Amino acid sequence: MKRIGVLTSGGDAPGMNAAIRAVVRTSIYNDIEVFGIKHGYSGLIDKDILPMTVYSVADIIQRGGTILNTSRCKFFMTEAGRKQGVAVLKEFGIDVLIVIGGDGSYKGALELSRLGIEVIGIPGTIDNDIGSTDYTIGFDTAVSTALDAVSKIRDTSSSHNRVNIVEVMGRNCGDIALYAGIAGGAEYIIIPEVQYDIDSVCEKILRGKERGKLHSIVIVAEGAGDFKEITEAVQQQTRVATRGTNLGYIQRGGSPTGPDRILASRMGYMAVECVKNNNTNCVISIRNNQYITIPIEDALEMKKEINLELYNIANILSI
Ligand code: F6P
Repeated sequence: MKRIGVLTSGGDAPGMNAAIRAVVRTSIYNDIEVFGIKHGYSGLIDKDILPMTVYSVADIIQRGGTILNTSRCKFFMTEAGRKQGVAVLKEFGIDVLIVIGGDGSYKGALELSRLGIEVIGIPGTIDNDIGSTDYTIGFDTAVSTALDAVSKIRDTSSSHNRVNIVEVMGRNCGDIALYAGIAGGAEYIIIPEVQYDIDSVCEKILRGKERGKLHSIVIVAEGAGDFKEITEAVQQQTRVATRGTNLGYIQRGGSPTGPDRILASRMGYMAVECVKNNNTNCVISIRNNQYITIPIEDALEMKKEINLELYNIANILSI
């Protein structure tokens, strides 16, 4: 029987613990030995590896972060680093490595597969920026967190009749901004995938004000612009009091939502089923509500598409 290693890599995301739990419990249920590798690829190189038991993952399904810790390991991006990783996996007798992380982590896994290690990827990142899956673990929670913050900002924005610019995370992907924007009734959503000009943002704010709107919320994805510059430009052009907030790391923390826990549990379970069926060197994805596997090499070629229909709906509803 194969021996499994599991690690989390890149930015942490709520729901990673639920995925670890599912991998560990499904392995043990099937009498497969499973090892937790701490601190992502750095811990692999440093042999920071421990056997996992049913109890190692008790009481973690509701916890944010990752009990295995995580890192972005520069050394692992070199061939020497990856070869060292392979040597450690061999030393521990680990045949299959399950990597929970984003695109960067998948790239590391692909390189390992080229060196003879079997790998399986599980998409874990708040950014929802992985082309091969409709949803990543952590995205739903991050949207809920951003939405909660936007609703609070709306209270004070409306009391003071201000414009509030809110920057959210997402790297080069506008999904957190788009989903939090449509659900939060934002007046304008600025995302990297759609060109915007500051004049049209200001015109929309002023049009709303003329119609009697007491305040406006603009959500900016971090990859689309700097919230400070946008705040200054809006204040100058509209002459309406404007304030800016960067939500920052609160979006990465907190207890995962129900949908994230379910996504993580199903994906973790499925990864171990794949090991049992000798279906490795693949990633687990959800597409059109179906759980599927995609060869890791193909998955990394897939481009993330923004949902333009949703973007247009958000624009119409905030007219
Ligand atoms: O990938 C998740 C993410 O939170 C991005 O949204 C953000 O750009 C980045 O990580 C921040 O990374 P770090 O933790 O290295 O500051």
